[in-house]
Amino acid sequence: MTTTKNRVFIFDTTLRDGEQSPGASMNPEEKMRIARQLEKMGVDIIEAGFPVVSDGDFASVQQIAREIRGCQVAGLARANEADIDRAWEAVAVAANPRIHTFISSSDIHLKYQLRKSREQVLKEAVAAVARASSYTKNVEFSPMDATRSDLDYLCQMVEAVIAAGATTVNIPDTVGYAIPEEFGQLIATLFKRVPNIDQAIISVHCHNDLGLATANALAAVKNGARQVECTINGIGERAGNSAMEEVVMALKTRKDFFGLTTGIKTEAIHQSSRLLTQITGIAVQPNKAIVGANAFAHESGIHQDGLIKEKITYEIMTPQSVGIAETHLVLGKHSGRAAIVKRLKELGYALNDEAVNRTFVRFKELADVKKEVFDEDLEAIVDEESTRPQEKYRFVYLNVVSGSVAVPTATMQMEVDGQLIQEAGFGVGPVDAIFAAIRKITGTNYPLLKYAVNAITGGTDAQGEATVQLKFNGRSATGRGAHPDVLVASARAYINALNRLEWFGKDAKKVEVA
Ligand code: KIV
Ligand code: ZN
Repeated sequence: MTTTKNRVFIFDTTLRDGEQSPGASMNPEEKMRIARQLEKMGVDIIEAGFPVVSDGDFASVQQIAREIRGCQVAGLARANEADIDRAWEAVAVAANPRIHTFISSSDIHLKYQLRKSREQVLKEAVAAVARASSYTKNVEFSPMDATRSDLDYLCQMVEAVIAAGATTVNIPDTVGYAIPEEFGQLIATLFKRVPNIDQAIISVHCHNDLGLATANALAAVKNGARQVECTINGIGERAGNSAMEEVVMALKTRKDFFGLTTGIKTEAIHQSSRLLTQITGIAVQPNKAIVGANAFAHESGIHQDGLIKEKITYEIMTPQSVGIAETHLVLGKHSGRAAIVKRLKELGYALNDEAVNRTFVRFKELADVKKEVFDEDLEAIVDEESTRPQEKYRFVYLNVVSGSVAVPTATMQMEVDGQLIQEAGFGVGPVDAIFAAIRKITGTNYPLLKYAVNAITGGTDAQGEATVQLKFNGRSATGRGAHPDVLVASARAYINALNRLEWFGKDAKKVEVA
């Protein structure tokens, strides 16, 4: 039987801490797509952003609060009136809004960053929680850098904020310093020493600097924590946060050990991971647990032999349980629109008519040049087509001359604000020439941080998936493009990155936050 005692609440912070990963900035439309996916997955609380940071952040938190009705929606706020008021303004429209306020509790942060005494910080923490609870009873408080804080002071702060109205107290391992046994012990100690702790849910928020974020979160859960803050693919500040898929699948696979459940529909994990990768351009390492390309691949002959005889020999969870369908050959070039729509549905995509039309056109183009079109090909197309930001720049045409004796030359045609422009570019290689042509057409010259191409499936007719990361105003944006011709994929990726930067430029007035 599931009770709050054996239910772990999943608080997803992909859109807040996750967005703090370099290159992970998302525009409002992309954040909305992630939020809808999180709702579909059954996440309990979505931390939608940090409303005071910029008008753009505020607007997207408010949009998520307005449109997502199946999850609680939280806005982050430092422990001051202006942040809390702004966070409330953003989330008030939610079906179940939450204010998440935080202040540091470690002497290191107090001395070097805040330059305030323990007494002063305690007062500010209590005042912040009191102000937040004047708006809503759903208030979360985090003593930042809790794991490097004096234990007596931490206990005192946790007790005081609960007394002031915090209904969730989150214990962050802000710098990823904790060791699982020690962190579990810290949570157990808080349960022993804080007299009013039963009036709040204890949450944890672990960073992965030592590769221990998931282990620490699980140790905390074993010792009474009932909310875990996590992100899809484990993205987040520096080395990232506890990965949601790891926490959830550990609890599910080792229910015998934990005796706990979450509300996550684990079959949506794979698609969520892909969507985030597609939007941010941040790839998942192949050997990453649960969502890496090799997570369910068995290479060794002994393992394969065992699996053929009985799956349980080497498989602790099935690929299907995290939403990886067996790879199907998608129909060929004679397949109709209805067949594609059906396959997209089976793969878990619900697209509007316009996105289906664009996907279908791209599918036909691909099927013309590629004999076999796989699910992965279709997913790459649909992800690219449906995650496009509003486009200032559009790819129209590319012709490249290159070879061992020719000067690599790219002739490109693009639409800029609906107007057709053609230019030629030269370079040391064809990609260099293409990027030069795009720069001429768009009149931009942003530093290129990253350029990479991967084959989506096997075979020389595989689609290439290109990634381009550009930098502007201290922010970076990653674009992706898929096409059987890697040069076209590269051009599309560059244009996609430009379109993404275009939006961030409009929201460039970010406030410095702690
Ligand atoms: O890592 C951290 O301490 C945070 C807090 C704002 C919860 O992200
Ligand atoms: Zn964090």
